This record gives sequence, C-alpha cells and structure tokens, in this order.
Amino acid sequence: MKPDFEQYITKTKLIEKTDASKKIFGEVFDDKTINLLHYLSQKKYFKEIEFAINEGKEAIVFRALDYNDEFKAVKIYRIKTANFHNMRPYIDGDNRFKKLGKDKHDMVFNWCKKEFKNLELAKKANVPVPGPLASKNNILVMDFIGDKEGIACKTLKDTKLNKEEMESVFEKVVDDYARLVFNANLIHADLSEFNILIKWQNEKPEPIIIDIGQAVLINHPKAMIFFERDIKNIARYFSRKGVEIDDESLKEKLRQMKEKIKKEK
Ligand SMILES: Nc1ncnc2c1ncn2[C@@H]1O[C@H](COP(=O)(O)OP(=O)(O)O)[C@@H](O)[C@H]1O
Ligand SMILES: [Mg+2]
Repeated sequence: MKPDFEQYITKTKLIEKTDASKKIFGEVFDDKTINLLHYLSQKKYFKEIEFAINEGKEAIVFRALDYNDEFKAVKIYRIKTANFHNMRPYIDGDNRFKKLGKDKHDMVFNWCKKEFKNLELAKKANVPVPGPLASKNNILVMDFIGDKEGIACKTLKDTKLNKEEMESVFEKVVDDYARLVFNANLIHADLSEFNILIKWQNEKPEPIIIDIGQAVLINHPKAMIFFERDIKNIARYFSRKGVEIDDESLKEKLRQMKEKIKKEK
C-alpha cells in the first residue's frame, strides 16, 4: 500500500510557505525521500520533521521531534546535486564497501551508510559525535546536538570564544582526534571549524565532531594524505586564533596522545 505522504507532509511545519522552505522542499523532498521519511516515522524514529537547522555542501539537516517529544537530527543527502566525483576517492579503497559503478543513487546511499558506520565506530571509541540512530538510503537519523530548548549548537567557526576557551577547545579537539585515529581507526578527512559544533556545558565549551561521511579507515590508500590535510586545517585555524601550534607540534601532541591511549587500553 502506498503511504499517504500528503498527510505526513501536512503534519510537518516545513509546509510553511516561506521562500526558504519552498526552496529546500524542492531540493530534497522528491517522492522517494518523502516515502522514506514516512517509513522512518512509522518505525518510530521521529514523528515530525520540523525545520532545516542548516544546509551543508552535501546535505540538509533538519530538526525532528520524536514520539517522546525529544529532538532528533535528520540529515537528508541531496541526490540530484550530489558531487559524484568529489565523493568517489573516499569510497573507493574503503574495503567496507564494494567498488561502485556510475549510479548516483548507489554512491549517495553508500555515503550515507558510511557516515552511519563511521559514527558508530567513533561513538564506541568515546569520541564526542552525534549518536547514530538509523540510516536508510539518503537519510541519516542521529542525536540532535543542541540545548534543552531545541536550539542547535553553532559551529566552532560561528562561536565567539575567549583565549582561554579557545585553548581548552583546542586541547579537547586534539584529544578527540587522537581517539578517532587511534581508537576508532578513522581519519576524519574533512576536519575543520565548519565540522566541529560547540556545546556549552556548565558554561564551558565542548567540541562535538560532526560530518564524518567522508572519513576513511586508517588502512585506506589515501589515509595519510587526508590525515596531513586534517592536521593542516586544525593547526591553521587554531594558530590564527592565537593558540601556539604548527603542523609539526600538533603531530607531536598526537604521538603523545597515542602513547596515553595505549596505556589506557
Ligand atoms: N546532529 C546534529 N545536531 C544539530 N545540528 C547538526 C547536526 N548535524 C549537523 N548539524 C548542522 O547541520 C550543518 C550541516 O551538517 P554537516 O553534517 O556538516 O553536513 P554537510 O555534509 O552538508 O556539510 C552543520 O554545520 C550543523 O550546523
Ligand atoms: Mg559539514
């Protein structure tokens, strides 16, 4: 039986007729995606998609409400405008996925599954990431990163921090990245101030790492190249913000963390 998506859609606040929501609506809500949202909502992952929190390069992330009235984040990958060529180097060479052909759907679906699996690995390794809840085709359901009122956390790029806060965020990012690499065996491959959210806990900024669809296992043929790029991005950003760090000293810090993590095991 065909689900009644008309009914589902009118239940969501997205139908509000602002130009922004109309644009988003057209971009991601094709029949198949609506069908899938309906399926996931029947599976009780959420009851309502509320509104877009933010739009990234590959996806739009929505706030959703579940059946306990708790917030969830639903990331919907665009299929039509997916950049196939940019995705390929991160999927080819990952032995968790078979070599993909030229089908755009296949690529996006596997990418989404990859983000889910990477989040699972990161979570298990105690890296602060949104806990993954479900993935199906181009939709990923995960923990909502925000406050109790439902305001989503800002990215590091958009957060104002004083010197002391910046230094503490830096130390935590190094710690988290070391756990990601040495415990979860993952290289983020797109780590930057855009893919770190800042959650305020007891008035202290805590980094949460997001957007790990492109992350590869350390045995991936390009892992070293991606690792070097992550290092460069992080060292560049934090040194610009007044933290005394360069590529080499960041690598040294990671080596020290590796020893510490080994001892913890
Ligand atoms: N779990 C989440 N909770 C709250 N906001 C999120 C969550 N995941 C992503 N976001 C928001 O959505 C934006 C885009 O998500 P991201 O995973 O970086 O997608 P893209 O691959 O398109 O860059 C982020 O910058 C952030 O503002
Ligand atoms: Mg991003």
